[in-house]
Amino acid sequence: MIKVICVKDYERVSDVAFETMKPFLKSGSVLGLATGSSPIGLYKRMIKDHNENGTSYKEIYTFNLDEYVGLPLEHSESYYTFMHKQLFDHIDIPEDHIHIPSGLGDLEANAKAYDAAMDKMTVDIQVLGIGSDGHIGFNEPDTPFTETTHVTGLTEQTRKDNARFFDPLGEEVPHEAITMGPANIMKAKNVLLVANGKNKAQAIHDMLNGEVTEKCPASILQRHPSVTVVVDEEAASLLDPSDYERR
Ligand code: F6R
Repeated sequence: MIKVICVKDYERVSDVAFETMKPFLKSGSVLGLATGSSPIGLYKRMIKDHNENGTSYKEIYTFNLDEYVGLPLEHSESYYTFMHKQLFDHIDIPEDHIHIPSGLGDLEANAKAYDAAMDKMTVDIQVLGIGSDGHIGFNEPDTPFTETTHVTGLTEQTRKDNARFFDPLGEEVPHEAITMGPANIMKAKNVLLVANGKNKAQAIHDMLNGEVTEKCPASILQRHPSVTVVVDEEAASLLDPSDYERR
């Protein structure tokens, strides 16, 4: 079941995403987290809530979706660095509760180890962004829905979309990533997908109204029992108003 909530702008997307997340910010919870620009506002609100209301992450566990292959952890664009800068450095989560797939060393072994760690816990809520080509995690079009954690090539579209982070460094976007597969994502009890901006409108439309197909990886969410999609007006611009709740 997918519930779609459309709000005015990115700030409201982040507010509603935080409201959806809040019940899971408690002892024993397992959070699935994403990088990219979409969840930054949500993470800001989690930090504010930690500072102002004392919400503790000491007994919370996290699993990130993905990581670039070949970037040292300390690289400014590694997802390890991103997550620490945007969230982990500002809350009280123990470092050994944080799981991010490793894009260094023996990648096959890393993927297996990540699946094994995920098999020991169930993600209570998985945060997702969506690529303009409908990818979730780095599961690009044509990834089998049955895939678990694996190494994947990034499409030219995705590398173009992410060039905004690497261009200022005078560096190329990596060509590969290690990512949870659609099968891992579907095991989460709940999914929270956030999207904003015109360049997401087609992917949001296809995810919700297109057929369930590996051509649009996010369309698999139509088969998930509990998905909340929070979008701004631009990302919702190709939807029929009867498709969403307006807030
Ligand atoms: C990030 C991830 C990607 C992004 C997607 C959208 O961990 O897995 O699927 O969620 O590329 O990225 P943004 O939010 O930067 O538009």
